[in-house]
Amino acid sequence: MSNTILVGAQWGDEGKGKIIDFLTETAQIVVRSQGGNNAGHTVIVGGTKYVLHLIPSGILRPGTLCVIGNGVVLDPIAVAVEIEGLRSKGIQVTPQNLMISDAAHLVLPYHRLLDEAREASRGAGKIGTTKRGIGPAYGDKIARVGLRVADLLHTESFEQKLATRVAENNAVLAAQGLPGLVLAEILPALQAAAEALRPFIANTVVYLHEAVEAKKEILFEGAQGTFLDIDHGTYPYVTSSNTTAGGACTGSGVPPHKIDKVLGVIKAYTTRVGEGPFPTENEGISDLLHGMGREFGSTTGRARRCGWFDAVAVRYAGIINGIDELAVTNLDGLDTLATIKVCTHYELRGKRVDYPPMDYTDLAACVPVYIELPGWLTPTDAIREWKALPENARHYLEKIASLSGAKLKIASVGPNREQTILL
Ligand code: IMP
Repeated sequence: MSNTILVGAQWGDEGKGKIIDFLTETAQIVVRSQGGNNAGHTVIVGGTKYVLHLIPSGILRPGTLCVIGNGVVLDPIAVAVEIEGLRSKGIQVTPQNLMISDAAHLVLPYHRLLDEAREASRGAGKIGTTKRGIGPAYGDKIARVGLRVADLLHTESFEQKLATRVAENNAVLAAQGLPGLVLAEILPALQAAAEALRPFIANTVVYLHEAVEAKKEILFEGAQGTFLDIDHGTYPYVTSSNTTAGGACTGSGVPPHKIDKVLGVIKAYTTRVGEGPFPTENEGISDLLHGMGREFGSTTGRARRCGWFDAVAVRYAGIINGIDELAVTNLDGLDTLATIKVCTHYELRGKRVDYPPMDYTDLAACVPVYIELPGWLTPTDAIREWKALPENARHYLEKIASLSGAKLKIASVGPNREQTILL
């Protein structure tokens, strides 16, 4: 029995949803502890595609309990729609397999408007957010003016609190010449969502504590990736939560000493959505992957920026998260390349750099230094065993793992549950 934190070790979209789905064969509980519906986890089971934004991927396994923890920012309307969407595809979603923390903060309609307004006012310096209101919602949490899931349950006081927040945010919008919200127009949908969510709302901290005591196996499902972390990422081109391993503890109330393992998920190459420095970005590999119909965002549909594998970034992710094991996804994306580049270190103003600088202008000035590895020029998507992989593919995987300083545990060669090789 082990409690595992799964983190993205790059810029998000590492294929975490699929790996979590694979691992939930043994986990009894899956917890989301940060982020909101900016995340998009794609899982394909039995030919059906599911895109999950707020609900942990564990919902697709009968018998697995999913928890949306206190560290998440929850758009109540979006989660109610997601529940209905899953039910329409035949997935059971009941209080027996989904719990929502009463302490999670709410993403409310003004957060989305503020997110859009801030992005528009930044012009060329925009972050490229998902416009789901994530930054403003976490901003309210830290400023201690946010509303929480528990507030939804108290119909009258919720309306009063919302009225105050709407008036305050309308003033902010008006100062920018933007129209505000009318309370009476937004309230009914929020009240309907509150009623739909009421049976799922609970003190998840106490529940998880009891589960830990009962030695249940818990998987913490990270959203986004290490370099989008509010503290450790490429600030300000980041999201607003702690996407790194520590965030799983604060965002769920499970103490650090109850965690047994950290699994880092990486792509066999690198991608990033939105703006910000990306040292190994490469047009050729972007064109190749987009041409294969790959690397379009599951939340916004945006084409992801693509580049070579960056061992500098993953090594840093290793030390911040304490990564014990690695899962490498999308190996099959490299099947058609004769040679593959891997960045081993950077050069910054003539000096060798082994860890990414925290200042984003320095990171943008870093020049990646590459080694070249031979490709395997063989389709890998039908391979299910380590030994059956082409020798060059095994060598590539071993090399990126050793450069990253972690043990290789899983290789994924396609989006389906079965396309997974366990070492
Ligand atoms: P926000 O989280 O919507 O505020 O967006 C901030 C940055 O994080 C932008 O660059 C987004 O593209 C990026 N981002 C947010 N969520 C995800 C995700 O799930 N995968 C990849 N990038 C994300």
